[in-house]
Amino acid sequence: MAGQDHPSVAVRALSVLAPAKINLFLHVGEKRDDGYHALESLAVFAELGDRMEFAPAAELTLNIAGPFAQRLAAEKNNLVLGAARALAAIRPDEPLGAAIVLEKNLPVAAGLGGGSADAAASLRGLNGLWHLDLPDADVLEVAARLGSDVPACLLSRPCWMEGRGERVRPLPAMPRFPVILVNPGILVPTARVFADLNARTGTGAMQPPTDIRTVWDLVAYLDHAVNDLEAPACRLAPMIEDVLAALDHEPGCVLAQMSGSGATCFGLFEQQEFALGAARRIAQDHPEWWVRATHIAGPDIGAPRLQPG
Ligand code: C5P
Repeated sequence: MAGQDHPSVAVRALSVLAPAKINLFLHVGEKRDDGYHALESLAVFAELGDRMEFAPAAELTLNIAGPFAQRLAAEKNNLVLGAARALAAIRPDEPLGAAIVLEKNLPVAAGLGGGSADAAASLRGLNGLWHLDLPDADVLEVAARLGSDVPACLLSRPCWMEGRGERVRPLPAMPRFPVILVNPGILVPTARVFADLNARTGTGAMQPPTDIRTVWDLVAYLDHAVNDLEAPACRLAPMIEDVLAALDHEPGCVLAQMSGSGATCFGLFEQQEFALGAARRIAQDHPEWWVRATHIAGPDIGAPRLQPG
């Protein structure tokens, strides 16, 4: 075990949650010169996600476990090592290694920001493990270079997303509203969803929310908001419509919508008993779907936690 040769040195591992990102709305604007579309989105985070551990080591290694590990190995699209190397490059003179374990609990390429959440959790965890003490602004800059969703995932709290998604503004925490997440197990590549987009709300239609106290405040705020990517994603994968219909059908579901570029959809509930009942019924009716009941998380959900060495 690491540290046994140096009993006087307290060797600690860090455990970090990489929470699922939920886009409560997502409006698409113009296609920009760099090929990306301008976006406007309100993102929140769930109380569930991938779990990551960072332990001191001479080399940088990554082990992937958990229910979606196979999918990820096949996709080869995880940004974890890229994030670690980008952070280590800030201190090129120091030999910075880490044994990283990723427990992949979230479906892959699912609109929940999973890969971005893992990259962001790596930045948070390694900044702590390596005692870099980098200012937030520097870590955010590294995050923006890694991908559009990584800065929002770095904050892991309600935030307003602009630009291609990389410009983020943290917002006040929301109450722990119950949500259920449902993924029908279909991969919808983000690029294809954007390519099939033929109606856009545009940016500027919404302002960040100011005072969300009850679920009805949130529903009223989202009254004219949509996810512009939902229609093209449903054309590519009509089963998403079945997911939305199943959520809409559930008593107590006050809003059902797709997150990101899909295929995961969320159902928002006022009361947890209704969310739990809905999740149970949908999972029973569709055993092949991934169904989880959770909550919108508070602001410290992704904070690194010390593990005994
Ligand atoms: O962000 P990511 O690299 O996963 O995006 C995949 C593709 O989706 C991009 O190459 C682009 O075609 C499209 N996209 C876009 N506008 C965005 C984000 C993604 O057009 N804001």
